[in-house]
Amino acid sequence: MNFLSLIESKREGKTLAPEQIQEFIREFTAGTIPDYQMAAMLMAIYFRGLTTAEITALTLAMRDSGDVLKFLRDERLLVDKHSTGGIGDKVSLPLAPLLACLGFRVPMISGRGLGITGGTLDKLDSIPGFKTLLPAGKIVDQVQKIGCVICGQTDRMVPADKKIYALRDVSGTVPSIPLITASILSKKLAESLDALVLDVKFGCAAFMQTRTDARKLAKAMVALGNECGVNTRAILTDMNTPLGRAAGNWLEVKESVACLEPISCSRRRESAHSSPKNSWRGLTSAATEINDLSLLVLDCAAHLLVQTRKAKTLAAARNQAADCLASGAPRKKWDEMLVAQGTDLGAFNKKLALDHTAPVVVELKAEKPGFVSRCDARLIGEVIRDLGGGRLTKESGINYDVGIDRLAKPGEAVQKSSVLARIHAGDQSQAKSACVRLRAAFEISARRTVTDPLVIEVISSSK
Ligand code: URA
Repeated sequence: MNFLSLIESKREGKTLAPEQIQEFIREFTAGTIPDYQMAAMLMAIYFRGLTTAEITALTLAMRDSGDVLKFLRDERLLVDKHSTGGIGDKVSLPLAPLLACLGFRVPMISGRGLGITGGTLDKLDSIPGFKTLLPAGKIVDQVQKIGCVICGQTDRMVPADKKIYALRDVSGTVPSIPLITASILSKKLAESLDALVLDVKFGCAAFMQTRTDARKLAKAMVALGNECGVNTRAILTDMNTPLGRAAGNWLEVKESVACLEPISCSRRRESAHSSPKNSWRGLTSAATEINDLSLLVLDCAAHLLVQTRKAKTLAAARNQAADCLASGAPRKKWDEMLVAQGTDLGAFNKKLALDHTAPVVVELKAEKPGFVSRCDARLIGEVIRDLGGGRLTKESGINYDVGIDRLAKPGEAVQKSSVLARIHAGDQSQAKSACVRLRAAFEISARRTVTDPLVIEVISSSK
């Protein structure tokens, strides 16, 4: 193959044939195309874009560059959720066991965090003994037996994406909608899904900062997923404020387990009924257990129930999901998943009972009474990363115990000296500097400001 002529064609804005795309992905994965030529092609794609047919060909070629999970036919459909990432976004953890209890199979292949956004695998690594690296056979086996798995991509799954992503990272070609779409979807398609819900975040701590860009990405991914035979829907969600009240690996596991506890489910159901047009975040109140995390978990489950025709309407689906959570079965399923992936439940429960596992905990307190009008997710993410809770490079180690909890959220009333956040740090000096930086993340206003809805739009077709 003359790859140079393909680079030149794309540079001139011409369309590549599916066979040409398949061939260069095959050759690049096999190592016969050098990185410098592939980087040039990626830059040409960055500037010229790809047609829908080209994106489809690229995605399928990337999926087929390695193993695709193979499941036996079963009445339980295969579903998953993908989030473009944010601060405190732990939805996958409670969602996988909930979906398994709703009668789905969930092969949830997840990633690690880089920069300020957290990764599901890093959160799970904070659980004693939990294994996130599983061979394909074990992934399929566990999904068949207990209904869900959350683990990392095997070395043999979508190797083309691994190589291409590494090059994009160092060649300034990450923020390209066709390349992001192909990268995310190739991995999801390798799970052999029937339905997929995408949580595309926008805001100061999101990959896509504006609603317009998030909508563009969501539409491209929804079109491609459906084109490739997976019933795909996207929700656009706000990531200006962290999700839930905790951010940081172990603290997020704790909050996820709390979300699975059945105690607050009747309240959740009531709130689902009274929710005005998806304005879920407006329901959050420090005085109740109802929170944006559980509502987003229920919303993702509800969309998948509707997509797979297990519920007729979103309202009915939300009730079905809330009732399932209330039954306590997903909490038990979580334990089952932990044990299947190597966890000693005794050690896990002992850790869970601790108020904190970081050596130092300090409270950030309000300096005046009023209403929280801003809780800046980007700043909070940066503080946690610098406490050691995130990575600056792919090779960096992580401190799983650091982070922030008891976050006060926009719309909530605070008194002078009310706790705005609790900082979990490795030592006193880190805690002190985090406390100073964190103050700037909060704004207290005299009046309660109207908070934006968490889910602002649902995209189920590219039109
Ligand atoms: N996540 C991915 O997996 N790929 C991208 O290109 C961007 C985000």
